[in-house]
Amino acid sequence: MAAAERLPSVADQVASIPFWYHRIDLGSGITTPGWAPLSLDSYRIPEDMTGMRVLDVGAWDGFWTFEALKRGAREVVAIDDFSDFLGTPEAVGRRSWDSFDICRSALGWGLDRCRREEMSVYEINEGRLGRFDVVFCFGVLSHLRHPLLALDFLSGVCDSGIFVATATCEDYSPYKGAPGNGNPGSPPVLEFYPTVELGNNPTNWWAPNLACLGLMVMAAGWSDVEVWKLTDGPEHAAHCRGFARGVKPAA
Ligand SMILES: C[S@@+](CC[C@H](N)C(=O)[O-])C[C@H]1O[C@@H](n2cnc3c(N)ncnc32)[C@H](O)[C@@H]1O
Repeated sequence: MAAAERLPSVADQVASIPFWYHRIDLGSGITTPGWAPLSLDSYRIPEDMTGMRVLDVGAWDGFWTFEALKRGAREVVAIDDFSDFLGTPEAVGRRSWDSFDICRSALGWGLDRCRREEMSVYEINEGRLGRFDVVFCFGVLSHLRHPLLALDFLSGVCDSGIFVATATCEDYSPYKGAPGNGNPGSPPVLEFYPTVELGNNPTNWWAPNLACLGLMVMAAGWSDVEVWKLTDGPEHAAHCRGFARGVKPAA
């Protein structure tokens, strides 16, 4: 094959993406140059996901999709509506599924195991996507105008577990100043960000404290809900993150 006809290398494909959100090990010494996740272990997803069918909501470059597959998931369906530009569309320059597809191809996952759909969480329905054992809802809740409605849509297609990660107002409120000033403990609080209050990102609408996060997951139909945070005493607003997981009650 002449040099001009050669397909671009994985390294060249990675370099062609203007902004990477995820840091994904593609093998052969190539890792995508994103920063997320901050701490994989904090998400507390199962080590062994053998046989599970997983929905990854807001998949972006696909870190959590590929992590579930690596852990044995039977199939992962990734969805995203590409609405989050971290507040700066020009800097991020998202081009649909380009980055996800580069990773999927480099990691060798076929369409039988790894499907992706451009759709909003509000468009989820069983007829189009089927049912899932596990839902990942990471970094999405704060971007939704209607978070409870979205959790209801997720609950409608999930037979067992949900894992959630979100910005939380537990230890940080942009209305109260630096990290350390938030809404800890009870009662449940869901802070509203009508413009760019949170992270200078107009697509951030809400952040719950931990009590509220757990109750929201419960209100959507999961039980045995646990909540925890990334770190005690966070010094940076980006480290004020909360997590939840729950399971569906046995039928
Ligand atoms: C902060 S990123 C999180 C990426 C990844 N889930 C993670 O936690 O590492 C949020 C993602 O959710 C997507 N998103 C926002 N609103 C959405 C919606 N209504 N439906 C589907 N995806 C959405 C954004 O486009 C973006 O890719």
